[in-house]
Amino acid sequence: MTDVQSILDRIGEAMQATKDRGTVAQYIPPLARVDPAQFGMAVAFADGRLFSTGDAETRFSIQSISKVFTLSLALGRLGDAFWSKVGREPSGQAFNSILQLEHEAGRPRNPFINAGAIATTDAAMAHHAPRDFLAELVQFVRAAAGDEDIHIDAAVAQSEQATGDLNRSLAYFMASHQRLQNPVEQVLGAYFHQCALSMTCVQLARAGLMLTGAPGAPRLMSPARRTRINALMMLCGHYDASGDFAFRVGLPGKSGVGGGILIVAPGKASIAVWSPGLNAQGNSKLGTEAAEMFAQATGWSVF
Ligand code: DON
Repeated sequence: MTDVQSILDRIGEAMQATKDRGTVAQYIPPLARVDPAQFGMAVAFADGRLFSTGDAETRFSIQSISKVFTLSLALGRLGDAFWSKVGREPSGQAFNSILQLEHEAGRPRNPFINAGAIATTDAAMAHHAPRDFLAELVQFVRAAAGDEDIHIDAAVAQSEQATGDLNRSLAYFMASHQRLQNPVEQVLGAYFHQCALSMTCVQLARAGLMLTGAPGAPRLMSPARRTRINALMMLCGHYDASGDFAFRVGLPGKSGVGGGILIVAPGKASIAVWSPGLNAQGNSKLGTEAAEMFAQATGWSVF
């Protein structure tokens, strides 16, 4: 039996001792103020066992990890018709790139780059007001985590609104190609707020259990949908570093610029890691290193 707690203890010690911790996201001021010395990791099993190390109970902004939850809702709402709106190919580009939209008639490559996530939020909203969509999203995440104490950080959402001109450009570009069904500013408002969901590693690891398909895990979607979301996380979850994450870790993962990564070990467990310093591609530097150490120690790579 894998001794998950001693593996986490070892990783926690190695990460505390690491000097180069990356750079915290600068473009959203509340994220720029987060202390880069922090590191937390949690591993949740469907039978209720939970292992953790470091700052695993500290809340952080889950940012783009929320795209996994919104995709789950959009697929629940539209089924396979969703794929006429958003592609499912890796982009090989930065998370906020506009380049491919121009060449590809405003249809985003996948649901995890910003353009694709904005289109996914639009699909998940259907024709409801942003506040109704956000209430449903928060309820969904709470149900997945089995924890009611999960909220949107209003200050972070406000700051995203204030600094979101590039996201606005992506959204208006898609709208000019008739890719959005709701008013653009409403879609953006919903998107900025979903990114501002605040969770701990423990909460996030528990919420990810629905994606493991492990016996006893919450069943909030069909097995086919779950495996496809995992496939997208593997191929697109780290933007232009998705290949590198698959190579080093071999597990589906989704990162956020808040420094969190949600990792799924299919049939086994759900893992959340957080350290706010980012690497050049905008993914948690220590989070990625910890995920690599964890996958090596457990042998849980899917390959
Ligand atoms: O849209 C943005 O720029 C942020 N709210 C989220 C981006 C993000 O987390 C990208 N992840 N690495």
